[in-house]
Amino acid sequence: MEKTLYWQDESLFLIDQRKLPHTIEYVECKTYQEAIAAIKTMVVRGAPAIGVSAAYAMALAEKNNENLQQAAKDIKAARPTAVNLFWAVDQVLSGLENNITAQETAKRLHQEDIAINKKIGEYGNTVIDENDTILTHCNAGSLACADYGTALGVIRAAHEDGKNINVICDETRPVLQGARLSVFEMQQENIPVRLIVDGAAGHMMQKGQVDKVVIGADRVAKGGVANKIGSLMVALAAKRYDVPFYVAAPISTFDNENNIFDITIEQRDKDEVLKINDKYITKKETQVENPAFDIVESDLITGIITEEGIKKAL
Ligand code: MRU
Repeated sequence: MEKTLYWQDESLFLIDQRKLPHTIEYVECKTYQEAIAAIKTMVVRGAPAIGVSAAYAMALAEKNNENLQQAAKDIKAARPTAVNLFWAVDQVLSGLENNITAQETAKRLHQEDIAINKKIGEYGNTVIDENDTILTHCNAGSLACADYGTALGVIRAAHEDGKNINVICDETRPVLQGARLSVFEMQQENIPVRLIVDGAAGHMMQKGQVDKVVIGADRVAKGGVANKIGSLMVALAAKRYDVPFYVAAPISTFDNENNIFDITIEQRDKDEVLKINDKYITKKETQVENPAFDIVESDLITGIITEEGIKKAL
């Protein structure tokens, strides 16, 4: 897989995920403001990748002799739902108090994320059986992390273990992370993959064509899990048809302070819904709701696969 992000010559380089899978291009961020813009516009996305990018954004602020408290505030305002963003900035701030530079902390978080995902893969592999068909929503893959992925990390680990598995990716409207990113990752690994429209997930489960669901998370908190819009409908269908529903997420995605129903669900631009390939698919004055995430309640979740083992939802 191409690298999601890397640090070179005092700059942060991010693969431009808006252009995948057809074009592989990196965006260079020399300032923390450029890194914020990249997070907001989804050049980089996915909770762990946002977290690592936020830590490097602090390193950019440090390099440019910016006010680091102000930078931390600005970076935390980039996107509201993925808790990894806040967690990573706080990790940098507490490092600074102990004379550890922002760049050192960012590099540590970058490396640790890869090791954590491999561990999630190891634990996740224990619930995957030979000949399983696994449905996933959005992209919780290598591109959503420093490497390897959480939900797709579980799938990678099962594949590396020699299990015969099949993957179904929901397309994930409106940004199409499933169609553009998860399918691309599976194809690169030669893991058999089929793409479905979001509305087909229930149908596939009703027909008995899905053995497990594995998704990622933007936040795990008391009451449930926040993840990409559409996750709730998948979870409801899984419950109805007795399909085990797993969430794969690092401990850095856990928010032990808030109830999941109190968190901010990001609302994104209406043009994401009104347009496909930059062309209006309906009248441009149409009223739109565009919540980017929804909440899967704890009782719909079979288990949360973390680097510390498989836990019960909070
Ligand atoms: O809006 P996105 O693309 O940042 O949303 C990503 C997701 O919902 C992922 O499932 C989640 O961040 C987990 S990534 C390991």
